[in-house]
Amino acid sequence: MILVDGVPILAESDSSSPSQVVEILAALMDHPSLLSASHLFKSTPERGFSISEESGLGSSTQPKCVYVFQSEYATVDPAFVDVAGTDEATTCVGLVIRNRSNGKISIAHLDSPAVVEMGLAQMLSQTSDPNLQDEMDVHLIGGFEDASLKRTNRSDAEIHGKMDGYSLPLCIKLIETLWRRREKFHIQTFFVLGHNTRRDADGHAYPIITGFLVETSNGSVLPACFDRTSRCPDEVVRRIRITAHSDDPTWTGGLLETYHTQDDKFIIAPCYWSRRQLHIASTLQHLSDSQLLLNCSTSPHAEGPDFVDNLRRQFDYIIKHPHWSETFPKRQPRVFERNGQGGWRRCRD
Ligand SMILES: *[C@@H]1O[C@H](CO)[C@@H](O)[C@H](O)[C@H]1NC(C)=O
Ligand SMILES: *[C@@H]1O[C@H](CO)[C@@H](O)[C@H](O)[C@H]1NC(C)=O
Ligand SMILES: *[C@@H]1O[C@H](CO)[C@@H](O)[C@H](O)[C@H]1NC(C)=O
Ligand SMILES: *[C@@H]1O[C@H](CO)[C@@H](O)[C@H](O)[C@H]1NC(C)=O
Repeated sequence: MILVDGVPILAESDSSSPSQVVEILAALMDHPSLLSASHLFKSTPERGFSISEESGLGSSTQPKCVYVFQSEYATVDPAFVDVAGTDEATTCVGLVIRNRSNGKISIAHLDSPAVVEMGLAQMLSQTSDPNLQDEMDVHLIGGFEDASLKRTNRSDAEIHGKMDGYSLPLCIKLIETLWRRREKFHIQTFFVLGHNTRRDADGHAYPIITGFLVETSNGSVLPACFDRTSRCPDEVVRRIRITAHSDDPTWTGGLLETYHTQDDKFIIAPCYWSRRQLHIASTLQHLSDSQLLLNCSTSPHAEGPDFVDNLRRQFDYIIKHPHWSETFPKRQPRVFERNGQGGWRRCRD
């Protein structure tokens, strides 16, 4: 169930459900409270997030962060974590769900309609009693008008018009899934699609905001960007999982398991990769930067400056470690705990 300002958003038509979902999406895009929330969000200065271990600042001054990459999710407890965030979203959508009764926050970086239903179930899996009518605050941030549709006039026909982009089908699936579940999802931020789009002089569309964080103490969200020091442990391996997990015969769908809420540890679930990944990495490593962007991005015009460098570091890693079992011996997860200085250290058993 979807609510804004405590009022359920209902579809007026009783026709087939796909058009009801589009109606709800359109109602959220135009809702005055959500428009003003979007305006406020967009005008909030972006927080650059970096962990400076040499700065001499004591560990107590570094906010405790949990960062999720594309395809990952984490549920965090405000008792252990100050901020949770993600970035590098272009056509992807970041989802935050905050349980009003216990303050726990789930954050995910969703890249495909295919993972939405199971992903949402994972994010909400801490609940023991499925009959509870939980009240949840929800923020959706990211995705833009990547389809080449001209929305000078917003009408339903145009919204379904061209489904060749990535962001729109993802947003539709998200709304549909939230709407069909029994929890009460109070939408607080709906900064997606047209709201998150700017155009250059040639008419190319770009997302306005590609990252954000949520303050766990009060659930407020603000634009943010992270860097290599602040994306939490095991960056390269986690990036490899994003592309390799679809090869993994033991992967059951849904979002990647990365973080353990009660222990405040990163537990990077094992991921299998095949010789195919080595082949792809060796082939792509020879391409020029611009070819790489075209081959590997859903939105080559809109990627951040380190997109190519991040890919090349993944390829290097796979070329050096072609067998997944070197990285996940005996198919065990890689476990990391906080080192007390804002960083992480690997736990050995
Ligand atoms: C939300 O918090 C309440 C109170 O702790 C708990 O009973 C409920 O299961 C939680 N719901 C979810 C989806 O985590
Ligand atoms: C937008 O589309 C609707 C229905 O298709 C039409 O009635 C309306 O005049 C259009 N508005 C503009 C500004 O073109
Ligand atoms: C939420 O908490 C953060 C960190 O404690 C604080 O900086 C911010 O002002 C708070 N926001 C609101 C809306 O209360
Ligand atoms: C990558 O892109 C190049 C040029 O854009 C194309 O020739 C090549 O087939 C692509 N390779 C892969 C593996 O997709």
